[in-house]
Amino acid sequence: MSGEKEMTYKEAIEKAGNSLTRFPLIPIRGVPLMSIIANNFDSIWAFNPDPSDLLIATYPKAGTTWTQEIIDLLINNGDAEACRRAPTPVRSPFLEIHSPPPIPSGLDLLKKMDPPRIIKTHLPFQLVPQGFWENKCKAIYVARNAKDNMVSYYHFDRMNKTQPEPGPWDGYVHKFMQGQLGWGSWYDHVKGYWVEREKRNILYLFYEDMKENPARVVRTIMQYLDLSVSDEVIDRIVELTSFKNMKDNPMANYSCVPPEVFDMSISPFMRKGEVGDWKNYFTPEQLKMFDEDYEKQMKDVHIPFRSLI
Ligand code: A3P
Repeated sequence: MSGEKEMTYKEAIEKAGNSLTRFPLIPIRGVPLMSIIANNFDSIWAFNPDPSDLLIATYPKAGTTWTQEIIDLLINNGDAEACRRAPTPVRSPFLEIHSPPPIPSGLDLLKKMDPPRIIKTHLPFQLVPQGFWENKCKAIYVARNAKDNMVSYYHFDRMNKTQPEPGPWDGYVHKFMQGQLGWGSWYDHVKGYWVEREKRNILYLFYEDMKENPARVVRTIMQYLDLSVSDEVIDRIVELTSFKNMKDNPMANYSCVPPEVFDMSISPFMRKGEVGDWKNYFTPEQLKMFDEDYEKQMKDVHIPFRSLI
């Protein structure tokens, strides 16, 4: 209107400054969510996607950003420049995220984009807006073994100044087991999408498979999305989405978020990107307790997780 240049995502976050704080968790239908999300849940629940929109759903720290990058590259036929047009959260908005103004919410960003959109969510299956299933949207779920997922989340909670304080590691293990972290129980999350995957045509992927054979997973995603790219492009996508290349890519490594919010001196967003890092964290006692509890929490389904490859 005034001809003013629109603020970039980074500028908006910088402007929000002090109003960004570690938000407490508030339960929505029993699932603890950051208060700023919980307080806006009605508008999130009312979101009505286009049938062409794609949902990428994960428990936090399961490989969301990696999957978002692979999909953007697949859609753009491996064109690295096209995928550097904006940072990940702008190219592929985070459905439920709300932040203090002037940072746009996920819904604000989605409103400005034409479908098909690549939409990220950490919501458990039962909190995903029903329109995704009514409109038969495609959905990709990425799951990561519980122990590595927890280690990654622990470091993220240390560096992300909008998430509740993680506290010491030992207490964190208990919070994880009891489903007290943001977005709730990992166990319920992975099971919720697993039991719905056939009925809802959800492509269920594993982080460990992506590490072991990225080209195979890129092909699986390509087929699911009814895309067709050459073998050469598949190889290029694998290379562009290697941990090292994404860590160095300013449009994929979350360097768009200023240090007051993501303090990468505490732990970088692109931290290690490995399978089995949990071995460096669990004491033998914690492992025994965790594994026994895992058996109980997961006994009703068999999901083929691998915590080592
Ligand atoms: P670590 O903390 O174990 O390193 P999300 O995107 O869901 O927040 O997940 C972040 C986790 O995925 C982090 O795990 C991050 O390093 C890892 N990750 C991101 N890009 C990756 C890639 N290209 N290859 C392997 N791991 C990646």
